Amino acid sequence: MSIRNLDDLLAEGVSGRRVLVRADLNVPLDKQSGEITDDGRIRAVLPTLSALVEAGAKVVVCSHLGRPKGAPDPQFSLRPVAGRLGELLGAPVHFAEDTVGDSARSTVEGLADGQVALLENLRFNKGETSKDDAERGAFADQLAAFGDAYVDDAFGAVHRKHASVHDVPARLPHFAGRLVLREVEVLGKLTGDPERPYVVVLGGSKVSDKLAVIEALLPKVDRLLIGGGMCFTFLKAQGHEVGTSLLEEDMVETCRNLLERSGGKIMLPVDVVAADAFAPDAAHDTVPADGIPSHRLGLDIGPETVAGFAAALSQAKTIFWNGPMGVFEMAAFANGTRGVAEAITKADAFSVVGGGDSAAAVRALGLDESSFGHISTGGGASLEYLEGKTLPGIAALEN
Ligand code: 3PG
Ligand code: MG
Repeated sequence: MSIRNLDDLLAEGVSGRRVLVRADLNVPLDKQSGEITDDGRIRAVLPTLSALVEAGAKVVVCSHLGRPKGAPDPQFSLRPVAGRLGELLGAPVHFAEDTVGDSARSTVEGLADGQVALLENLRFNKGETSKDDAERGAFADQLAAFGDAYVDDAFGAVHRKHASVHDVPARLPHFAGRLVLREVEVLGKLTGDPERPYVVVLGGSKVSDKLAVIEALLPKVDRLLIGGGMCFTFLKAQGHEVGTSLLEEDMVETCRNLLERSGGKIMLPVDVVAADAFAPDAAHDTVPADGIPSHRLGLDIGPETVAGFAAALSQAKTIFWNGPMGVFEMAAFANGTRGVAEAITKADAFSVVGGGDSAAAVRALGLDESSFGHISTGGGASLEYLEGKTLPGIAALEN
């Protein structure tokens, strides 16, 4: 189970060698303007890329963006990312118009030592996400032809059994990048022997997405605080009416069962902000969790809940947070997420923020990133890691 990392590759010497780097440059784009709204994932891969550039490698970066359906789709082009990456690196990034076609080939061939190329979106090719081993393998062959060595720094995608993550490392000498190494180190602390009390905060919209991680975490944590859209299915399981709030009817029984088995570790909201509609200017009030009016929907946790969660967090020595507490994109429903995030920064604890949405929330709310112990770039990936699942991208590096 030993993974070679970037330092091992640098020690071999990379000057003049082509290094294929799988990055997770899946950044949120503004729907109207197409502009990058949060470049956290681009910044997170810079340490690896800069080290390779300085060592004189020909750096070939590949990534997915969004979920195009195996064919080119301009709204998911990585071109804007190439621009931003170049700004951050302080040197232009050569952008290939395709992933493994003529443009990619000539772009890679034209690279001088210490230069960087970015290939077009991996998911413009059916082979990337194919369930068929041969189809994935054929695409992996084409990608692997662009590198003499492979570095995986796409932590956000290590839970995907995709060609660039799982099959390319079988074809090239492979190494973990700085980001992947750090993520695994930090999350390993949480699954190992975390300093207690260990408090986990979970939010986000669906219980069904979080069920496996709740099951895996319950025996390990001291407290599990639940907010976000998924809290309403739990409130329903407690016997409360939730009006027109988000509700997974088929999960109510499961939630009831979890509450019974949790030994009092699960903390649910005691008040919520209930609104007339899912809109930034909707009329809204704070109501007790057992008093949500039938025509209203909960869009945030209330202040009493924030105070209770903050009290639990202030005791913690280890904290993991995944998922916003409410619709933080709308100012009227951002107080829950902000309050919990602030409580985490104030706690004298090692804190880990897991996931695309929670990480974006930290930055969108203008919170200081450095007041958290670690902000993971992986949402699904960090949850699957904590569940104890085998991650195809990590397993591939171990072999
Ligand atoms: C993410 O944003 O969670 C990662 O980039 C993986 O993307 P995916 O969920 O579309 O595979
Ligand atoms: Mg995801």
